Amino acid sequence: MKVLLVGSGAREHAIAEALCGAPDEDVQLYAFMGNRNPGIIRLAEDYIVGNPTDVEAVARAAADWNVDFAVVGPEDPLAEGVADRLEEEGVPTFGPKRGPARIEWDKGFARELMEKYDIPGCPEFGIFEDPDEACDFIDELGKPVAVKPAGLTGGKGVKVVGDQLKNLDEAKEYVREIFEEDIGGIPKVIIEEKCVGEEYTIQAYTDGEKVIPTPAVQDHPHAYEGDKGPITGGMGSYSCPDGLLPFMTKEDYERSVEILERAVEAIKEETGEPYRGVLYGQFMLTSEGPVVIEFNCRYGDPEAMNILPIAEGDIVTLHASIAEGSMEGEVEFLEKATVCKYVVPEGYPESSEGEGDVIEVDEECIHRYDAIPYYASVNLDEDGKIRMTSSRALAIVGIGDELERAEEAAESAIRECVSGERIRHRSDIGRRETVEKRVRRMERIRGE
Ligand code: GLY
Repeated sequence: MKVLLVGSGAREHAIAEALCGAPDEDVQLYAFMGNRNPGIIRLAEDYIVGNPTDVEAVARAAADWNVDFAVVGPEDPLAEGVADRLEEEGVPTFGPKRGPARIEWDKGFARELMEKYDIPGCPEFGIFEDPDEACDFIDELGKPVAVKPAGLTGGKGVKVVGDQLKNLDEAKEYVREIFEEDIGGIPKVIIEEKCVGEEYTIQAYTDGEKVIPTPAVQDHPHAYEGDKGPITGGMGSYSCPDGLLPFMTKEDYERSVEILERAVEAIKEETGEPYRGVLYGQFMLTSEGPVVIEFNCRYGDPEAMNILPIAEGDIVTLHASIAEGSMEGEVEFLEKATVCKYVVPEGYPESSEGEGDVIEVDEECIHRYDAIPYYASVNLDEDGKIRMTSSRALAIVGIGDELERAEEAAESAIRECVSGERIRHRSDIGRRETVEKRVRRMERIRGE
């Protein structure tokens, strides 16, 4: 079966490995990538380096390669309507069309949908196309808020009072900046009451009707250890053998999955089109239960790397049948813990320090530690060297029967098998102390 993969990060490398390694179908992979990802290149029959948001170029590549279906990794091409264009070309696509993908590319739409369809887990919010009205609403609420540009910002546009913003005056300044600098590309801002709790992700496969949830994952968006520093695309993440997180009950998980199910139903009702792909729910567990922070229209990055390596079953059938519109195929998740840690250039995300540097990766050594390497925003040179860009370079995923073993695997693999002059990672991700801190915090919030 010929499969087109769009995207070139570690998430897409993980998708490529899952499809090419699946036992149910023999896959010939064709890749449309933004950078020369060495992990994807070696799995692909052929590849093109181009702009994945250039939907005409993607559609031409799909037609030239005569692929059976496509899998789109990142959100930007989906927001540009790549799935709609591929379907015109007769290529079923795993990844929603522009209409259903609006759940991610317009955060105002997501909140209106939750309100209209009475989906649980919606905080108090207001949506504004006028900065003065948004600032008045902040004053009216009179409590800490989250300020969100409506459009796509690569996960770095949301600012919260008490975190990135000192007080309500700074929140109002940020509102004006969003409009003046066109942050997110849609002249609209969402003001929400600030939620307090632990964040987590649940990703679910869906064809627009049936929903298959996957294990819960916790990402670490801050750049530095101890959850300090600016927000990044995600420095690493972990999952546990029981599919829950240490601060979460089965009921919390089930309530979150119900929210995803309700959202899938509502998207179809509202847009008239079924959602096909992975629906990503970012939640916060509060004293009142799960609250939706946002929905994304694709696998998470790094969260894809926590679920794909432990997914067993008809992985190709699952992706192909979702693309076709009727989900089939069995998938189960091994009862293993996973810890994903990103190796990034020294300056990430604030400067270009380390950009262009060579990163050396001893893959055999990594596998000896029960870990897996997934290449991200790097380029394979003509001389075979791997050079970093200014973004995340390499994800290492440790797998083990317990969280501690998975963390040790990832940490040892990075320390012993990856080298570069200006690289860093967060060694605290998945560590017992880090996780226990979160459990204690959640207990305090729940008043236990
Ligand atoms: N982990 C953040 C994201 O995938 O958007």
